[in-house]
Amino acid sequence: MRSLQHPRFCLFLLLSAILLTASAAAQPSFTPGRPWPDTAGNPVQSHLGGLLFENGVYYWYGMDFRGPRIAPDTLPHQSFAWLLNLGVTVYSSTDLVTWKPAPSQLTEITYKPGGLLQPANLLVRPKVIKDHATGKFILMAALTAPDFESVSDVVYAVADQPLGPFRWMGKLGWCGKPNAAGLWAGVWEQAKSDAPERIRGFDMTLYTDGDGKSFLLTAHTRILAYELGAGSTCASHVEVMQGATGEAPALFKDRGTYYLLTSQLTGWAPNRNQSFTSPSIHGPWTPRGPFAHGPGEETTFDGQTTFVLPVQGKPHAFIFMADRFGAVSDTDIPDFTRATHIWLPIEIDAARHTLTVNWRDTWDLSAFAASSEKQ
Ligand code: DGJ
Repeated sequence: MRSLQHPRFCLFLLLSAILLTASAAAQPSFTPGRPWPDTAGNPVQSHLGGLLFENGVYYWYGMDFRGPRIAPDTLPHQSFAWLLNLGVTVYSSTDLVTWKPAPSQLTEITYKPGGLLQPANLLVRPKVIKDHATGKFILMAALTAPDFESVSDVVYAVADQPLGPFRWMGKLGWCGKPNAAGLWAGVWEQAKSDAPERIRGFDMTLYTDGDGKSFLLTAHTRILAYELGAGSTCASHVEVMQGATGEAPALFKDRGTYYLLTSQLTGWAPNRNQSFTSPSIHGPWTPRGPFAHGPGEETTFDGQTTFVLPVQGKPHAFIFMADRFGAVSDTDIPDFTRATHIWLPIEIDAARHTLTVNWRDTWDLSAFAASSEKQ
């Protein structure tokens, strides 16, 4: 007892308490749905995007919603309010909270008028992977006209470094075949039943498996998985992801199970996003239902899935990433400048192959230590 009251011991306790408080306070935290300032003090603009980890640094690629909003019928194929393309934004971080902006990519190309690259054609849902064979960084995005019909393709660009510069390569085609010049004939009504060989610029994501094979997923009710070849510069094989459905696909793997998250189809308005699992990337996919829990779960916290990020150095730790656009109906084109990001930890029940994303007003990466103890 006496030793506990010793002044040196008390001092030790006090210092430990101060250090613990300081380290807890130093842990950078996420505040989902709130404006997220970058290191320059501007709101992070990385919507519908995805991340890459390379040499200890995370890179976040996305869409810049600060592009000028343009009135309907101003540009070709633009029947309702739209925004001009500002290319693909790039940020870097080591702690996932503090993001430093780097020069945007493909800006000069998207503003060149004519053909595939008219200013009104947006680069949507950009994602970047590192090709394991070549070591090159491959950026892919959907290129979409405001009518979602006259231009609807997947395009790609290649870089030697994560920050670029990314060299524009054009439309993604099939390995060993000449790429079709110009535009595909676009007939929206047929799009859902197009031959899978027609690579459409629907909602898309990229995924690299443990064996180094990379896949492009495109989703518009039916979800197609294109295996990539020749340094991830062309499609070599396509499969329908049997049993899976939706838009805005995000794919990850944990302990041998593939988890696919998708939204339903309600334009820019939020809906209840869902999950599917499979023991193989080739399916079949088992529906596992909604995963959002807490206030706003019916609309996935007013968000739409965009990506799932594996946290480096933390086994079974994955971050759910979504966009909150603020649309109020299926046909509403919202004020995108007010869009925010929702990042939340994923809790996985490995035995049951299910996942949960609980709402949190604020959280930090220590959330994963607690949840992995439960598994
Ligand atoms: C839903 C998609 O998920 C978005 O990426 C966007 O294409 C909207 N539809 C457009 O209505």
